[in-house]
Amino acid sequence: RKKRERITYLFCLISMTHFKVAVLISGNGSNLQAIIDEFKESSHIKICCVISNKEDAYGLERAAKENIDRYFLDHTKFCTRKDFETGLTDILEKYNPDLIVLAGFMRILSEFFVEKYKGKLINIHPSLLPKHKGLNTHQKVIEEGDEFHGVTVHFVDNTLDGGPICAQASFKVKTKDVKVLENEVHKIEHELYPKVIKDIAAGKINIIN
Ligand code: GRF
Repeated sequence: RKKRERITYLFCLISMTHFKVAVLISGNGSNLQAIIDEFKESSHIKICCVISNKEDAYGLERAAKENIDRYFLDHTKFCTRKDFETGLTDILEKYNPDLIVLAGFMRILSEFFVEKYKGKLINIHPSLLPKHKGLNTHQKVIEEGDEFHGVTVHFVDNTLDGGPICAQASFKVKTKDVKVLENEVHKIEHELYPKVIKDIAAGKINIIN
């Protein structure tokens, strides 16, 4: 009986511990919204803070509406990339997040940051990586006449849109309209990103070695 009580106690402790997610944004934050909506009622996964490098990022308003701690950290006010990233880590260290989610965060992160949060840092990219790294992915898909388009969630290394892939979702390209493609991509992003976060929190996805 004692053993069973101990197990129940341990189980309670584990379920009381939050899996803390920090979200880094630069703009609209529709992915942030999808993550907020998914985990609003979760007793396990919590968004601990939102950080933007752009003051007018609409994502900051989305966070404000939900009373989530939020920060604006202006990268132009720092002399070097490392200084800016030190500013980021100063904020993040207050929360000790289990996962840092880049959701439209438009800064490349250096080895300093990426190494510090290795295995805890993910990004979503609007293409089927390794195809179409960088910007204007929908345009590139149309120009190259790709049959499929999609999104990738990946752990982040210090190369542009590089790092081990966690998950991808794809669909058949049926349009030459960039806006239509972008909307389709957003729709699947909003489903895939929360799913991957859930799987990482459950220990179903991680980096070995
Ligand atoms: C998304 O398409 C994401 O793949 C890319 O930036 C965009 C951000 O959109 N990295 P939003 O700010 O989440 O609406």
